[in-house]
Amino acid sequence: MRHFLSLKDFTKKEILEMIDIASEIKNELKAGRETPFLKNQSLGMIFEKSSTRTRVSFEVGMYQLGGQALFLSSNDIQLGRGEPMKDTARVISRMVDMVMIRTYEQSKLEEFAKYSKVPVINGLTDDYHPVQLMADYLTMLEFGFGEKSKVAYIGDGNNMTHSWMMLASKLGFELRIATPKGYEVKEQMVLDAQKFAKESGARIIYTNDPHAAIKDADIVTTDVWASMGQESEQKQREKDFAGFTIDKKMMNLASKNAKLLHCLPVHRNEEVTEEVFEENADIIFAEAENRLHVQKGIMVWLDRYRK
Ligand code: CP
Ligand code: NVA
Repeated sequence: MRHFLSLKDFTKKEILEMIDIASEIKNELKAGRETPFLKNQSLGMIFEKSSTRTRVSFEVGMYQLGGQALFLSSNDIQLGRGEPMKDTARVISRMVDMVMIRTYEQSKLEEFAKYSKVPVINGLTDDYHPVQLMADYLTMLEFGFGEKSKVAYIGDGNNMTHSWMMLASKLGFELRIATPKGYEVKEQMVLDAQKFAKESGARIIYTNDPHAAIKDADIVTTDVWASMGQESEQKQREKDFAGFTIDKKMMNLASKNAKLLHCLPVHRNEEVTEEVFEENADIIFAEAENRLHVQKGIMVWLDRYRK
C-alpha cells in the first residue's frame, strides 16, 4: 500500500503513470463514458483549513469513479476537540477505503498515514501541495509544455514552491525560483531537490531577483504572499514583497508564448496584476478543472497499487 504525501516519494515513472491514467479517465468523461474504477468505495476528506477546489474536485471525482466522499471538517469532528490524529486515523481508516487530509504540519499528515489502514492523500499542508502540482503538470502537457520547458516561480517560498521543486527535480525540467529575502524555501527541500536533480538532470536556480528568474521562461507561476495560517502577516508581507508583482512589464521578459499558472485562489494586484491574470484565464481555469481529473488518476493508481 502506498500513500500520496509528497512527490518526493514517487519516481518519475510513477508520476507519469498517474498522469496517464488521469488523461485516459478525462477523455472517457468527455466522451460521456463511465469509469467506475472505485465502485462502492468511500473517501474520507478531513479539512483543517478552508477549500473550494480540493473539496469539490475530490467529492465529484469520487462520485464519478462510482464511489462516495465524506466531507469531514475538523470543526465538526472530534479531532477539532482534541482527539489525537492517531486515534482519528485508526477509527476512520477502518471504515473508509481512502483518506484525503488538508492540515497544517506535514508531520500531522504523516502521523495519520502511519496509523492508517488505507492510502492517505495530501490535500495540502504547510510544506506541500502535491495534488495541485500534478494538475499543473497535466495542464502544462495539454497546452504543449513539458520537460523541456523552463518554469519560473515568483513569490513566497511556500508549499507550492516546495512542490514545484519536487516535481522539477523528479521530472528533470528547469525551475527558477525568485523569493524576496527572508522568504526563501526550506533548506531541507533544497537538499532533497538537489539529490533528485542529480538523477534527473533538473536545473533548479534560486534567486531574490524576479527579473532574472522570469527571463525567457515558458511557464510563469506564483501564489499568494500570505498562505492559510499566515493571515496576521499579510500587511508586513505586502511591504516585503514589493517588486514581486507579476505585471505586463515583467511578463514581457518571459518567452513570447509564455503562460501563467496559478493554483488559486488569486489575490489580484498582489502576486499578479488583474490584467496578466485575466489574459491567462484560459489556462488557469483549465488548471483548476484538472484538479478533478488528476486526482481521479491518483486515486485509481493508489487503489491498483494495493491490489
Ligand atoms: N488550489 C487549491 O487547493 O484550492 P482550494 O484551497 O480552494 O482547495
Ligand atoms: N499557499 C497557499 C495555497 C492555497 C491553495 C496556501 O497554503 O494557502
